[in-house]
Amino acid sequence: MARKLAAGNWKMNGLSADLAEIRTLLQAPAPGCGVLVCPAATLVAAMAEACAGSFVAVGGQDCHAAAKGAHTGDVSAPMLADAGASHVILGHSERRADHGEDDALVKAKAEAALAAGLLPVICVGETEAERDAGETLAVVEAQLAGSLPETAGLVIAYEPVWAIGTGRTPTLEQIAEVHDAMRATLAARFGAAAEDIPLLYGGSVKPGNAAEIFAVSNVDGALVGGASLKAADFGAIITAL
Ligand code: G3P
Repeated sequence: MARKLAAGNWKMNGLSADLAEIRTLLQAPAPGCGVLVCPAATLVAAMAEACAGSFVAVGGQDCHAAAKGAHTGDVSAPMLADAGASHVILGHSERRADHGEDDALVKAKAEAALAAGLLPVICVGETEAERDAGETLAVVEAQLAGSLPETAGLVIAYEPVWAIGTGRTPTLEQIAEVHDAMRATLAARFGAAAEDIPLLYGGSVKPGNAAEIFAVSNVDGALVGGASLKAADFGAIITAL
């Protein structure tokens, strides 16, 4: 797995007509990094079909911890894989906040994703109050300890909650501090395999700040929300990586 990865999280945005943005993105030459786009579940199959054989991989935004069963409204990891997904975002702060997802549930979902052949993209990050209290590293370490599956086949996204959709970002030094700490934690847990785990930064990444963020120690790419919706913006971020 290439460590450099530009990932887009479309969140609850996107109708069939918006697949035009993906078709535009695909007209660019294949970049020297991995590219992933995670649309809502309704678009996974159509986007995967549009991206088949291209440089763009497709992922889900969540999955249930069970492979199937009586869980109305949920989507399982095998369903995402069957629809053409290769990845799934898990433990996004919006899932943790809106649906009360805790670390143990995120870990169970990650194990389900791996069992279905999907790479989990596990999100961690502190709230503004936690950062102000000096708890950032402790919060992130606790989330890593509780959310990660037993094996190293995964992607991590550090997304400070206060930087998501706000136009605010941590300083480059603050990003480096967290990413260096995460790499050390992963090395202690997974040994040499930790070197292959992409560590993405997420939170108000735009074409204008992507290059400086990508130059930060142990930042291997980004998980991009709003700026992933338009091919021009996401393409510029991909090029910066
Ligand atoms: O998962 C991506 C995300 O939460 C960041 O969103 O809109 O700040 O890039 P945004």
